Amino acid sequence: MSFTLLSSPLQGFTDFRFRNAADEFFGGINAWYAPYIRLQGRQEIKNSYQRDLLPENNHVPHLIPQVMTNSAEEFLFVAGYVQGLGYTELNLNLGCPYPMVTKRGLGSGLLKNKERINDLLTRVSSESDISISLKMRLGYEDSHEILDLLPILEKHIIKNIVLHPRLGKQLYKGKADLEMFKKCIENTSHNICYNGDIDSAAKFRELKDRFPTIQSWALGRGLIANPFLAQMIQSDNDQLPNDWIDQFSRFHDTLFRGYDEALSGPKHILIKMQSFWEYFSLLFSNPHKTYKRIKKAKNVKVYHEAVRINLEGEGDEIQ
Ligand SMILES: Cc1cc2nc3c(=O)[nH]c(=O)nc-3n(C[C@H](O)[C@H](O)[C@H](O)COP(=O)(O)O)c2cc1C
Repeated sequence: MSFTLLSSPLQGFTDFRFRNAADEFFGGINAWYAPYIRLQGRQEIKNSYQRDLLPENNHVPHLIPQVMTNSAEEFLFVAGYVQGLGYTELNLNLGCPYPMVTKRGLGSGLLKNKERINDLLTRVSSESDISISLKMRLGYEDSHEILDLLPILEKHIIKNIVLHPRLGKQLYKGKADLEMFKKCIENTSHNICYNGDIDSAAKFRELKDRFPTIQSWALGRGLIANPFLAQMIQSDNDQLPNDWIDQFSRFHDTLFRGYDEALSGPKHILIKMQSFWEYFSLLFSNPHKTYKRIKKAKNVKVYHEAVRINLEGEGDEIQ
């Protein structure tokens, strides 16, 4: 059975520079969701969001913007903006678990408010012709929230629902609730995409065997930790390519150059790259040591030296 691989967005990581570099070097992702846009009360799109979506900055085959809001007005405003750039779909974030967001009735904090979701979808679909898709968790407090919401979603035209089967209050702890995921797919006629904890081709196969009707799969943290992952899943290969260190090194340098041009001052680029290594280090045989070496770097020169030692050390391990 053929399948579609999507990139599940990570704010602060999967911006256009990462997307372009990952697509150029590794490929394998059929469509990318952009990290959310949030208006925070103002009817204007921040420059950083604009830059991330401008078609001239994006070279991936298919990009889908996302918005985090509980207001039909805001959704419509962002829909108008992204349509002006040529996008035909807008994804609504009903998944973000962080209390700063959920306390304001946004992200997974909106899931318990099914009437508000219903009103938002009703108004948005009557006033805009943009395709709407959803990104959701099972609920914030408990999974009755999604079970109560699914019948309401049946009344709406929704392109697809990317479902991460955890509760908001779990953040990223505990296991994804695969039993509840199954219950959800049995209780909806919408097209459901699975998202959560796919970090290897083997894990993907296991999930695909368990949910044979699911056709699209979204990779989040796993794709940053291992940018080869989509390619490996597409070719059903459990091994990294023989020259992965070389490929990874070129990918890393492209990312570095991109952020170096964009960010002001060495401190910012250092912080940015160090945050990537929290994930990248998982690709290495000793993640803890690999990450610690990078974290210890106090300037860009030492950082480059740490990257070199990490890559060479890994080369030695392989031989
Ligand atoms: C740092 C971070 C930022 C995230 N930003 C977003 C976001 O902007 N929009 C979104 O829908 N999900 C966001 N997510 C959630 C991921 O897209 C994904 O749903 C989640 O990590 C579970 O999938 P995974 O186990 O494959 O990572 C974020 C997750 C993390 C860890």
